[in-house]
Amino acid sequence: MATDDGTYEYQGRFGDEFGRTYFRRLDDLAVSSVGLGTYLGDPTDAVDDDYREAITTALESGVNVVDTAINYRCQRSERVVGEAIADADVDRDEVFVATKGGFVPFDGERPDDPGTYVREEFVEPGLVDADDLARGSHAIAPEFVDTQLDWSLDNLGLDSVDLYYVHNPETQLNARSREAVYDQLEETFTRLEKRAAAGDLDRYGVATWTAFRVPRDHDDYLSLPEVVSRARKAAKRAENTATHFRAIQLPFNVHMADGFTVESQQGPEGDQSALWFAHEAGLNVFTSASIGQGDLARGLPEDVDERLAGETAAQRAINFARSAPGVTCSLVGASDVEHVRENVDAGRYDPMGADAFDAVFE
Ligand SMILES: NC(=O)c1ccc[n+]([C@@H]2O[C@H](COP(=O)([O-])OP(=O)(O)OC[C@H]3O[C@@H](n4cnc5c(N)ncnc54)[C@H](OP(=O)(O)O)[C@@H]3O)[C@@H](O)[C@H]2O)c1
Repeated sequence: MATDDGTYEYQGRFGDEFGRTYFRRLDDLAVSSVGLGTYLGDPTDAVDDDYREAITTALESGVNVVDTAINYRCQRSERVVGEAIADADVDRDEVFVATKGGFVPFDGERPDDPGTYVREEFVEPGLVDADDLARGSHAIAPEFVDTQLDWSLDNLGLDSVDLYYVHNPETQLNARSREAVYDQLEETFTRLEKRAAAGDLDRYGVATWTAFRVPRDHDDYLSLPEVVSRARKAAKRAENTATHFRAIQLPFNVHMADGFTVESQQGPEGDQSALWFAHEAGLNVFTSASIGQGDLARGLPEDVDERLAGETAAQRAINFARSAPGVTCSLVGASDVEHVRENVDAGRYDPMGADAFDAVFE
């Protein structure tokens, strides 16, 4: 797993090349504020080859955060992340590896009939209870998450992951009540607390798409304070001294800034945005879709663009995301090695200060 010695050593090797606060504290670790994502792309050998080069280049250029998920590119992304970590000129303890479980994964390629595949490969053999499925493809029941973590460790070729996310738990709101989703999260968190105690993961969290940044009356809404409270209960049930729930992930970019602007999370002194609540609760925040899934590389709104540092639009978009309060790391997906080089270079500029960031929204 990533260690304080390993990640500080990594920061020592690369830190001087970057701007202010490029490396940030994550618990006792030093992690880069630009991370590499591995979501997009077809499940093909050719894209695997591109990602292998992209991840290796990132790891050898000052990016020590890699984000993946078991379902990304039909498990190919996890496998290629494992290969790149083994091949790159970095030590395992210098690198922060996050993955996720929740979406039923395909194996290497998309089946012709996903519904039949899920039934034959997962439901009939008893890996997933049909009642636990939402939208026919998502389950976060404790036994299934437990199994997925084992598969992820196997795909990655690692003994442990630094962060394990329950993936898009709001998907379960299609199948059950909000209270039932919180109950299921508590059960699954209890399992993850036990896996943390066993050394299979260092910390866990939830990766979300809509849950924390939508208004309270939205169908997809989940309360972050309630999720945190369930994690504390889970730690007690697992007889851990403190919860290992340490992180959230949510989309955040110039066009999707609602993690900062929508105040739908109840804080100690009233409603707060997800970012502020997480910041004050001491949670680490990872932004996804940091360049709008590629759109922002083609240009940013002029009034924001002119306030940001960076030579290219993609760099300025990355610097917007990693300037938001409480953000530990902005994840940028890139399978193209030239994109990786351009995105790493975003970190050579300073992020916006807090006042300048606030001023964008005035
Ligand atoms: N709910 C969730 O849990 C969730 C949802 C979405 C994403 N994520 C995570 O967050 C990561 C980032 O989000 P994302 O990948 O969806 O979106 P993103 O990072 O905003 O954009 C990725 C896309 O931008 C392109 N790109 C990257 N750098 C570029 C550059 N300098 N110039 C032009 N195009 C560039 C990439 O193309 P190439 O591949 O050709 O380089 C890719 O198509 C994901 O990879 C994933 O790890 C999590």
